[in-house]
Amino acid sequence: MNGIKIDNVVFNYPNGFCAIDDVSLEITKGEKIAIIGQNGAGKTTFVKMMNNLLRPTEGTITVDGIDLKELTTAQISKKVGYVFQNPGDQLFNRTVYDEIAYNPRYNKLEESKVKELVEDAAELCGITQYLKSNPYDLPFGLRKFVTIACVIAMGSEYIILDEPTAGQDLDGLVLQSKIIDELIKRNKTVIIITHDMEFVIDNFDRIVVMANKKIVADSTKKEIFWDFEILDKASLKQPYISKLAHDLKMKNYIIDIEGFIAEVKNK
Ligand SMILES: Nc1ncnc2c1ncn2[C@@H]1O[C@H](COP(=O)(O)OP(=O)(O)OP(=O)(O)O)[C@@H](O)[C@H]1O
Ligand SMILES: [Mg+2]
Repeated sequence: MNGIKIDNVVFNYPNGFCAIDDVSLEITKGEKIAIIGQNGAGKTTFVKMMNNLLRPTEGTITVDGIDLKELTTAQISKKVGYVFQNPGDQLFNRTVYDEIAYNPRYNKLEESKVKELVEDAAELCGITQYLKSNPYDLPFGLRKFVTIACVIAMGSEYIILDEPTAGQDLDGLVLQSKIIDELIKRNKTVIIITHDMEFVIDNFDRIVVMANKKIVADSTKKEIFWDFEILDKASLKQPYISKLAHDLKMKNYIIDIEGFIAEVKNK
């Protein structure tokens, strides 16, 4: 089966703390999906198991039908790439170029091919002018784009972005939307974790909500942001425009300005 299939996964940290409690999920190849939920819900722990950074205590994860236990590090990076929540956990080379080139070189690609991959990823992430810079001389927001470029150059089929929107200004968010669109055009699967609900609504339809070690909802954005029980469980708020529609007793399921205006015009 194509896609990522997570079956009854449990994860306990070495200190015995259970961070994921019997979670199952299927992600179809080529789709984009957002994972949301309060701090400490288990989102990062959950996605790190999708590329072997953490191994489930119980349960299985398969990617395109292959059990993750059977993949080597090199094989897993071709399948699933993970962009760390904190760029400091990922960056260790002296220049942005070397950082992006690291994985293609590790996979022993020709230097001309490495250059091609680095330039493509850098251009897509808007960091071409920083290729000779030290990643640590760049501000946090740009460093995030370096980490995203690294995973794009790896050529992974499934790309997990752990809070890419944190610390981004409007231009950064617009660029991230563009990157996600381009990755989907390139037949990649994009899995994002974010606390930015507007970004979720603008870019994603399928949303997985996590709360207290479990998935509590997996549905469309319209369903999720009008399900007060789920919002309450996950300590999430309706987007401002939905709340306004709710307060005005307008039709349910309004989640953006366009929907709001259409509803006003209909009255
Ligand atoms: N190395 C660790 N050892 C023990 N417990 C941990 C460890 N790392 C994380 N945890 C705990 O596991 C739970 C889930 O953490 P996780 O980082 O997966 O949450 P998250 O949903 O990504 O949160 P955030 O939105 O803040 O990034 C938290 O209670 C956290 O304190
Ligand atoms: Mg996290």
